[in-house]
Amino acid sequence: MPLPATITIRRPDDWHVHLRDGPLLAACAVHTARQFGRAIIMPNLVPPVTKVAEASAYRERIRAAVPKDLRFEPLMTCYLTDGADPAELTRGKTEGVWVAAKLYPAHATTNSAHGVTSMDRVAKGLEAMEKAGMPLLVHGEVTDPDVDIFDREAVFLEKVLAPLLKRHQGLKIVLEHITTREGVAFVEAHPGRLGGTITPHHLSYNRNAIFKGGIRPHFYCLPIAKREEHRLALRRAATSDSAQFFLGTDTAPHTTDTKECACGCAGVFNAPVAMQVYAQVFAEEGKLDRLEAFASLNGPAFYGLPPNEERVTLRAAALDAPDHIEVPALAKTITVFRPDTPVDWSF
Ligand code: NCD
Ligand code: ZN
Repeated sequence: MPLPATITIRRPDDWHVHLRDGPLLAACAVHTARQFGRAIIMPNLVPPVTKVAEASAYRERIRAAVPKDLRFEPLMTCYLTDGADPAELTRGKTEGVWVAAKLYPAHATTNSAHGVTSMDRVAKGLEAMEKAGMPLLVHGEVTDPDVDIFDREAVFLEKVLAPLLKRHQGLKIVLEHITTREGVAFVEAHPGRLGGTITPHHLSYNRNAIFKGGIRPHFYCLPIAKREEHRLALRRAATSDSAQFFLGTDTAPHTTDTKECACGCAGVFNAPVAMQVYAQVFAEEGKLDRLEAFASLNGPAFYGLPPNEERVTLRAAALDAPDHIEVPALAKTITVFRPDTPVDWSF
């Protein structure tokens, strides 16, 4: 079938975004707001966002960083720490500040030093979330250094997530940025309870890309990209008719110098090219007709929110995006993600 010249869908939302703060927020917010109507904002600032008042203030800084002509709604999340206060979780939800809470196993990824060291230590908080109908967003990797980095997601499912689902029967959970076929299967095995987000980069390359011709830090993200069979499982899940899978870019800006060094940070900055890369993947799979469900319908349905009314159009045309953006206040740049394979969509 010939590809259409354009595709028009409801404005998409991004269910997993790092917008940072200060100069990085000022440089990055516009790129997410140009593409998406709403975004789930990750709370892994330094220090992390754990209080309702901190989240309200951060939400205002985000709104102020978005150009006035763009309509964009930041959806705030609470960073769970050991001993997370159930009252603070409930209050923030009631007051319309928290949309969800985020579980980072301690030291799993960037800015997760304050994360959770054992599920027992957040049990009371999770019970409060169950009662309040507040989803739990999970960075699904174990942190045991004896577990190989490529196995950390699969081990997390059995060791942590399965018992968590049993213990908190009323909790809805998003397994974020899934990277394995085990992750896909686990989500599919728990309809009604689990959703899974999938990034554009995990759909477009496998782990070989990180080492092609030398070590390439702009392909390094956590959870790390896995083997080709896993990428194919993610592509099947994203383009399937399952409403359990939805869009979450995990756009995670780090300045170029902190990526291109002896111990480069994990995170891929994909906000300027996210919808173009997703459209490319859906076109390659012959499933462009399913892009709207993945990008604009399944996420809101999971969170119990209405889909956006506004429509956006993607055009079949060579990708038009900068290779980096400037962070003027730091006199630095952020490198924009670009897959090795062609992207023939423009937004
Ligand atoms: C994220 C970041 O930089 O904050 N990094 C990443 O590699 N994805 C944290 C995260 O989502 O794991
Ligand atoms: Zn993330």
